[in-house]
Amino acid sequence: MQLWPEPVTTGSGHSPFPGFLRTFRRYTMPAPLRVGVIGLGWAGTVHARTVREMEGLALIGVADPSPQRRASAPGVPALATVEELMELGPDYCVVAAPTRHHEEVGLQLAQAHVPALIEKPLAHDLPAAMRLVEAFEEAGVISAVGHTERHNPAVRELRRLLREEDFGPIYQIATRRQGPFPARIQDVGVVRDLAIHDTDLITWLTGDTIAQVSANVSAVSGRGTEDLATALCALARGTLATLDVNWVSPRKERQITVHTERGCLVADALTGTVTHYLNGAQSDTSVTTGSFPGSSPSLVITYPAQGELPFTAEHCAMRNTMLGRVGGLVTLREGAAAVAATEAILASARTGAPITISTP
Ligand SMILES: NC(=O)c1ccc[n+]([C@@H]2O[C@H](COP(=O)([O-])OP(=O)(O)OC[C@H]3O[C@@H](n4cnc5c(N)ncnc54)[C@H](O)[C@@H]3O)[C@@H](O)[C@H]2O)c1
Repeated sequence: MQLWPEPVTTGSGHSPFPGFLRTFRRYTMPAPLRVGVIGLGWAGTVHARTVREMEGLALIGVADPSPQRRASAPGVPALATVEELMELGPDYCVVAAPTRHHEEVGLQLAQAHVPALIEKPLAHDLPAAMRLVEAFEEAGVISAVGHTERHNPAVRELRRLLREEDFGPIYQIATRRQGPFPARIQDVGVVRDLAIHDTDLITWLTGDTIAQVSANVSAVSGRGTEDLATALCALARGTLATLDVNWVSPRKERQITVHTERGCLVADALTGTVTHYLNGAQSDTSVTTGSFPGSSPSLVITYPAQGELPFTAEHCAMRNTMLGRVGGLVTLREGAAAVAATEAILASARTGAPITISTP
């Protein structure tokens, strides 16, 4: 993806272009966007590093109430409050504070008309997420949710294939996301931390909405929130989806399997590959009924997916949107829909009943 206009000169002292062209370039290139990062934990640190490394963005400061975290700030003003950071005049801010603070910090930004990239989950519950949606919509301020997994090269390639190639109807999706226990997240369980990636991806990949959820969760860490979850989702147009998440496994796994009429696609976000199990010619017509063409094993093709790192792609989308180009941001409404789906998973696990979701 083109991130920034190509330089029209090759560098000072060696330019093949006359001086007036160098001057022209200086005045036609937009100034770097000034970015502030709020919360300097794992996610905030990755955002800060990404912003510093990207052309066209400048990290102007960070805010974190913890003196220890501020001491680790990467050579920019490290402030204790969001108000102090806003005095520096950021063009946009990243909200990477713990989830329970997203609403309060996000509303501050909306009121100050500062565009925001708010980490996932958008908020700790659906009413808070909707207050953020309304605040940014009413203020007419650019906003996005950090559903970084949409920017994973393997996931992007999977979506491209589903959109651009003719795979026929999507019958079923299965997502698996598991790995070791994270020391960092303290305020939410595995459903709000990890399953939210998959509820978002399921809707993004299919272009459909999750209509109903049945789920079970369990806790083994004694931390007061769930550590494992399995959910069955029925999508509005009939596709079935299952998602398995946990943070108790020594084996890391990030996989999405999509069963379609023309074959099965597997995106592996860790290896950065997409494998296509082509549906072969039908040999036994006795098993086909109605419009179902049958299935049989055929070619298996695995290919690497390429692209920028997810956090880079996310800031690229933010910057392009700010500059009035095509962005590809995850909207706050989409973020709220992902929150609604995770709430339905937790409610189903609590009540033992399927939960119907109305799209926010
Ligand atoms: N997109 C992703 O892949 C991804 C990955 C990890 C975390 N996250 C999200 O990022 C957020 C932060 O997660 P983390 O793992 O970095 O947490 P963390 O606990 O490591 O860091 C949170 C930081 O925020 C600071 N903080 C606390 N209250 C604050 C406030 N009111 N204002 C500003 N800063 C405050 C804390 O001092 C801490 O330094 C969470 O919402 C999490 O879900 C997203």
